[in-house]
Amino acid sequence: ASTSEEKDLIIIGGGVAGYIAAIKAGQEGMKVACIEKRGTLGGTCLNVGCIPSKSLLNNSHLYHQILHDTKNRGIEVGEVKLNLQNFMKAKDTSVNSLTKGVEFLLKKNGAEYIKGTGSFINENEIKVDLNDGGESVIRGKNILIATGSEATPFPGLTVDEKRVVTSTGAIALEKVPETMTVIGGGIIGLEMASVWSRLGAKVTVVEFLGQIGGPGMDTEISKASQKILKKQGIEFKLNTKVVSGDTSGDLVKLEIDAAKGGKPESIDSEVVLVAIGRRPYTQGLGLENIGLELDERGRVIIDSEYRTKIPHIRCIGDVTFGPMLAHKAEEEGVAVVEYIAKGHGHVNYGCIPSVMYTHPEVAWVGQSEQDLKSQNIPYKIGTFPFSANSRAKTNLDSDGLVKILADPETDRLLGAHIVGPGAGEMIAEATLALEYGASSEDIARTCHAHPTLAEAFKEAAMATYAKALHF
Ligand code: FAD
Ligand code: NAI
Repeated sequence: ASTSEEKDLIIIGGGVAGYIAAIKAGQEGMKVACIEKRGTLGGTCLNVGCIPSKSLLNNSHLYHQILHDTKNRGIEVGEVKLNLQNFMKAKDTSVNSLTKGVEFLLKKNGAEYIKGTGSFINENEIKVDLNDGGESVIRGKNILIATGSEATPFPGLTVDEKRVVTSTGAIALEKVPETMTVIGGGIIGLEMASVWSRLGAKVTVVEFLGQIGGPGMDTEISKASQKILKKQGIEFKLNTKVVSGDTSGDLVKLEIDAAKGGKPESIDSEVVLVAIGRRPYTQGLGLENIGLELDERGRVIIDSEYRTKIPHIRCIGDVTFGPMLAHKAEEEGVAVVEYIAKGHGHVNYGCIPSVMYTHPEVAWVGQSEQDLKSQNIPYKIGTFPFSANSRAKTNLDSDGLVKILADPETDRLLGAHIVGPGAGEMIAEATLALEYGASSEDIARTCHAHPTLAEAFKEAAMATYAKALHF
């Protein structure tokens, strides 16, 4: 083993949390090293998460639209064929260019990138098992744990990433299955259900709760989204629990049980996607060598400045508290370095947007109606349907609505919930409004360009205190 110079900051994990912290630390003039074992930077998000899934979502939407949504636009197309191999290649090309781009950014900002697996020897020394063989030891004044998360396994179903897959297998299937069952109607479940259903699979989503979309989605918006996805051909079994699975036959058999004493039945499918959430990943990190404990869900325990109980060891991203989202990890990557370098940083956890990239997209920020109800917080509602928005009508893409929740006394924005075309871009406007403490009248009195989808957002805000103009 070789020992190199002491670093100001050692980062374990080169996902969004880790690579952003590395860039920021480089910009702050710190001597920084980022250890990543995967062989490429960008973590789950760039390699097997956000980016590849969005490539498949975008291109499967195009394919589906060409197949089913051209005639009424006056466009006649000939034979349309899917070349799944090239479809996957397009995804890989995007992923490769982005992960290489991140590597370039680390270099540009003077951050060292070490390919290997890092583990704690003690509170200041990290052993790196290098991917190319051998090991080295680095000393750090500060150490940042950013080791991310992994798919939560379903007890009794062994994942082979071919027939029983997590999202990692689901973004790389070699053929379109005839049938697919998705366990868990959260964001991963619905994005992947959309991709494979558009490509021709018969998809059934089994969800334990009474609504789709995972935690946080406003119930009214979730119902509207489910209705649209059902129209697209996805079948839903809500309030239903998968009890067990059997992979011994040609098809994977799942035994399912309606959650409240309904009839048990079984579903056979070619591929089963397990999408019941993700869990923090700390395997092999040697936390026992420094006496760091995890909470009951496996998360590294930190304070409001990302410090573990050993103050110079901090932790951010999926492996600790908060929503498992790339942009949350990114904000924390900047803030944690600011805490180390300057003593202060900032992330507003009440103002982190969520987007589900189905078609139409679902996006939200702030509190949902059920959140407000459960806390007895008074609110007023303004809604506006995309069927009354001129741009959505022109685009022949007008399913969905905008829903604004505001304080009845002060008119301050409390939450914005959108299901509709371009929701994922529109939510940036809501997030900015929430961050700056805007009232719904501030939004409604802001001039919005015509004809744009964003006018639906303005009119929903208007509907909280006056009548919408176009509905
Ligand atoms: P990760 O990205 O998991 O990175 C951690 C890295 O640490 C990994 O690369 C791992 O190899 C490395 N590592 C672990 N242990 C060690 C060790 N001991 N030594 C060296 N390296 C180590 N979020 C969004 O905001 N938008 C989306 O559209 C979105 N889509 C997603 C789609 C899918 C299919 C999935 C699975 C996730 C998606 N997410 C999305 C979530 C997003 O990917 C995560 O929130 C984000 O990647 C978290 O970043 P992170 O850096 O904390 O962890
Ligand atoms: P999730 O927590 O969003 O959804 C899991 C769903 O599975 C829940 O609705 C839950 O009720 C259900 N479930 C759990 N056990 C079940 C069982 N036995 N039977 C049936 N249903 C069951 O988790 P998901 O979708 O796996 O995503 C993991 C993380 O990745 C999320 O935190 C999400 O934020 C992130 N992600 C974000 C994306 C985005 O921002 N667009 C895209 C994909 C993932």
